[in-house]
Amino acid sequence: MTRDRPSDGPREWDATTYDTLTLPHEQWGRGVLDRLRLAGDEVVLDAGCGTGRDAAALRARCPDVRLVALDGSQQMLDVARTRLGDKRVSYVHADLMEPLPVAEPVDAVMSVAAFHWVPDHERLFAHLAAVMRSGARLVSDCGGRGNVAGVTRAIASVTGEAPGDWEFADDVATRSRLEAAGFDVEDVRLRPDPFRCDDPAVLETYLATVVLGSHLDGLPVDEQAGFVRDVRLALSEPVVDYVRLEIEAVRR
Ligand SMILES: C[S@@+](CC[C@H](N)C(=O)[O-])C[C@H]1O[C@@H](n2cnc3c(N)ncnc32)[C@H](O)[C@@H]1O
Repeated sequence: MTRDRPSDGPREWDATTYDTLTLPHEQWGRGVLDRLRLAGDEVVLDAGCGTGRDAAALRARCPDVRLVALDGSQQMLDVARTRLGDKRVSYVHADLMEPLPVAEPVDAVMSVAAFHWVPDHERLFAHLAAVMRSGARLVSDCGGRGNVAGVTRAIASVTGEAPGDWEFADDVATRSRLEAAGFDVEDVRLRPDPFRCDDPAVLETYLATVVLGSHLDGLPVDEQAGFVRDVRLALSEPVVDYVRLEIEAVRR
């Protein structure tokens, strides 16, 4: 089923704060890079590149890759450009929900903690397939079915309604969506990976920057800190109960 977009496009992120946080995303990124299995001179699209940490880690492993750093947030791209520079990198400000303005077919796609922000995965995979050469691999980590269920319950207890802006897909639906978009699936799996943070101030910054951004967008500034605190206090324990959806697939 193809859904209408619930908003006008991807939102902006507080990239500067995001980049100061110690994130489990860095470990997820290392896992994606381990599974990419590059020769080292490919053109690699980082879909939802954020501040470019994973792309920098890729370049440390493979200095000769050419990167296409794509994100829907200009603030994220600005920090990525500061980190990566312009040599062997092109930057694309684009929405993964729309056909992608990528000039040449890419040899691989990596993506870390981004796909669950894209509301329609059928469209997402079709748009990625359209810019990948035959034989190119897609390796991704994102939130999957059951991801942040405890945080979702905490948000619902504060707001009175469950948040609806994430697509936490399961492995079965993801496999068939990938196949329909033109991929041979190597593996798709769900993996629980809870993140514990015992420092309340750090947890609130983390929740505000990484998890609750779309909720805060709709709140007056003077109510935002209180909202984040209420969500933290509504958690049964100081844990962000991540469940990762991990994908390895090859463009037919
Ligand atoms: C949690 S961040 C992850 C960033 C980076 N991959 C990392 O692991 O640090 C999610 C990223 O996905 C991007 N994003 C979300 N929805 C998007 C969309 N529809 N199109 C393009 N980028 C999107 C956000 O702007 C953000 O940079």
